[in-house]
Amino acid sequence: MKPSKEKFTITYKGKTIELPVYHGRQGPDVVDIARLYKETGLFTYDPGYRSTASCKSRITFIDGDKGILEYYGYPIDQLARNGNFMETCYLLLHGELPTSVQYEEFNEDIMKHSMLHEQIVKFYSGFRRDAHPMAVLVGVFGALSSFYHEHMNIDDPVFRNRATVRMLAKMPTIAAMAYRYTLGWTFVDPRGDMSYAGNFLRMCFLNPMYEYEEDEVLSRAMDRIFILHADHEQNASTSTVRLASSSRANPYACVAAGVVSLWGPAHGGANEAALNMLKEIGTVDRIPHFIERAKDKNDPFRLMGFGHRVYKNYDPRAKVMQQTAHEVLKHKGIDDPLLEVAMELERVALSDDYFIERKLYPNVDFYSGITLRAMGFPSSMFTVMFAIARTVGWVAQWREGITDPDQSIGRPRQIYLGPTMRDYVPMSERG
Ligand code: ACO
Repeated sequence: MKPSKEKFTITYKGKTIELPVYHGRQGPDVVDIARLYKETGLFTYDPGYRSTASCKSRITFIDGDKGILEYYGYPIDQLARNGNFMETCYLLLHGELPTSVQYEEFNEDIMKHSMLHEQIVKFYSGFRRDAHPMAVLVGVFGALSSFYHEHMNIDDPVFRNRATVRMLAKMPTIAAMAYRYTLGWTFVDPRGDMSYAGNFLRMCFLNPMYEYEEDEVLSRAMDRIFILHADHEQNASTSTVRLASSSRANPYACVAAGVVSLWGPAHGGANEAALNMLKEIGTVDRIPHFIERAKDKNDPFRLMGFGHRVYKNYDPRAKVMQQTAHEVLKHKGIDDPLLEVAMELERVALSDDYFIERKLYPNVDFYSGITLRAMGFPSSMFTVMFAIARTVGWVAQWREGITDPDQSIGRPRQIYLGPTMRDYVPMSERG
């Protein structure tokens, strides 16, 4: 991190101090306020962290104004169109794309660890059959911490690598079982001779009475969805993982915390919410009514799958996702009226002043729901798929944070607005 010649000067109550400013390799300069409180008695106030860099990172770069997303410098659309998810995982974890030997070893290591301990499988029977699969995912993934805690030493790279492989390997198995549990279907063990995405689809959809035939187009689409969602720098769930792990907690439990944060409709739950919204709109002629609702400040309705905290331009993932949606629907021979509603909604919104002025564009979730539905998933599974993909991002960011000498326990401060000190009054005297 290079210090800039520029300094940030602040004068408060007659005292002037200079704070260092740093250049990242790309992106805005950053003023280092670590000394601010000590030297001026001031805190900063930034709810939602709109102007705060919470860490330094080499993994993912986003330029929201230009609509750029890169993993270690590689543009997302190049990875999604030419690469595969396993090499993307390797890249996110190691900073470089793998050689063919590294790729084979990594892939084999992941597949070898994809089975679950039989005791973990028993957890499922404690859940209600109608439980949301994200609730099951949080519970079962968090429970991994009870299996792999004994030898926990996050300072040991061997432990970190083993935990990394286990988390990536077991997440799809846990997710597929969560899906089958809700349907009352028997669980399907993973296979070591399929792709990560193909194996996941098989674990979800295999009917044990028949041979399973892999659908290459769907496996490729799933793989691409995983690549598009693999990392997105310091979003809510990743920040949750980083904050939880700043106390040096068990990494499996920290990733389960990330799953919780992802679940919400303002974050990973948006793809489920976007599809539900498209169903509610139903037909193209009803779009103007919903556009008006989205613009009405007194109506809580928002266009789900629209807008992004960072992208104030077209989300680069949404372009690839839209193309994938078309490919999957064509391949399956599905004429989904919701795709027509989505495309018309996008067209109308992008020519409406409200959305233009606020720079609200479709995000990745706008088209992913339609694609996943065409693949045969119910909407309750959409965020689960996002969690599978994002696991590598959470783990890569966890590894980076844990090994960063500047990392200390995350401990924000607050503006206190409650009562000043007062004396305790016994209950009998409280009137
Ligand atoms: N529909 C209608 N209006 C919107 C929308 C939307 N989807 N998103 C933002 N706006 C409006 C806000 O009302 C606000 O208007 P105002 O300036 O008149 O008050 C303005 O645009 C700015 O909105 P903010 O809420 O300040 O934007 P923020 O950056 O905090 O929110 C968020 C980003 C949460 C993603 C928001 O756009 C949203 O709720 N979108 C719908 C949910 C969604 O799709 N989430 C997925 C995010 S991507 C992901 O997690 C992979």
